[in-house]
Amino acid sequence: MGLDLQAIRASVPALAQQIHGKPLVYLDNGATALKPQPVIDALLGYYAGYSANVHRGVHTLSVRATEALEAARRDVAAHLCVQDDCEIIFTRGTTESINLVAQTWARRTLVAGDEIVVSAMEHHSNIVPWQLVAAETGAVVRVLPMDDRGVLDLTAAAEIIGDKTRLLAVVAVSNALGTVNPVRKLAAMARAVGAKVLVDGAQAVPHGAVDVHAYDADFFAFSGHKTYGPTGIGVLWGRREALEACGTWHGGGDMIRSVSFEGTTFAELPARLEAGTPHIAGAIGLGAALRWMQSLDLDAIAAHEADLLAYGHALLREIPGLRPIGEAPQKAGVMSFVVDGVHPNDVGTLLDGYGIAVRTGHHCAEPAMRRLGISGTIRASLAVYNTTEDLDRLAEALRRALRLLGA
Ligand code: ALA
Repeated sequence: MGLDLQAIRASVPALAQQIHGKPLVYLDNGATALKPQPVIDALLGYYAGYSANVHRGVHTLSVRATEALEAARRDVAAHLCVQDDCEIIFTRGTTESINLVAQTWARRTLVAGDEIVVSAMEHHSNIVPWQLVAAETGAVVRVLPMDDRGVLDLTAAAEIIGDKTRLLAVVAVSNALGTVNPVRKLAAMARAVGAKVLVDGAQAVPHGAVDVHAYDADFFAFSGHKTYGPTGIGVLWGRREALEACGTWHGGGDMIRSVSFEGTTFAELPARLEAGTPHIAGAIGLGAALRWMQSLDLDAIAAHEADLLAYGHALLREIPGLRPIGEAPQKAGVMSFVVDGVHPNDVGTLLDGYGIAVRTGHHCAEPAMRRLGISGTIRASLAVYNTTEDLDRLAEALRRALRLLGA
């Protein structure tokens, strides 16, 4: 099924604006995606119509809010090809999802000498939580190396993932480089030594279909806001037995069965890991975002973005002075590049003057930048509503910017 790009763009109101007198070209989707009208309507619908608390009230609005929240949980489960919606934990985002596993599973399970394996291209949110746990438990964080293209070295991985490995925590799609990692192969290495597997899916879910079981992972994390949904909502999926092995984290309302000063007993999943009033509107908005993606056809989204990536790469390669960063054969959603001798922020600021939004800097992946010998990149990141015209505008603006910068 092809995509009706005009209709898709018309359903994202933020696209219809001018920035510095130029029509907006939004290529900062890796940081956050713009929101389609059905998501905005879902948020408005909750706040205007039934903004009651969930799981607590017998009155009609509370029941309505509870039903909407739980319907959103089922939407997420369906989107990830998960049968049991109790395996879907709502969090604030990918960062909180990973920290949840770090604090409830790793911190109580790992002992000195155990190894946590991450890759050289991880986002800080899939590095720092493990460093914190390592500092407390004596566990060691080890790193899967990558080559100059941003491709993980599977031979080295086979040596690093070994008897001491207790956890492999790896990104499915790199936010800084766009590399699509061979997660299933890595997971098989981890499984062979009895390690758990956590997949950071923040940059995977926005770009097409995801079946968490295809990764053979124990945990999978993603954020609502990169997936056309609201900020402040995210998801941790875990196999039931993996989630059962997680202790409690935040204590408070809704995560208990009974509280007394003599002792407290805890609720079943998912409530046990969702203390306090959740981001009800966020979850409802995320459900709407996932349904919107599905209404467009997930495979069509992936195919459209793959075409855009190929088109964009070809255009950028023709611009003298630009050097692509991240040239893995399997990529999704991201074109990163540098102009030697020019700070990425200077290019980003000039592009903004032409109405073009990109992200510049280290993209919260400082170790990856250091490995590649750069301080940061200029990153154009794609969404389903982007067009070849957007990329033509980017290329034209880059040529002008580089002339102005004397590069
Ligand atoms: N992690 C987000 C990005 O890649 C914010 O820009």
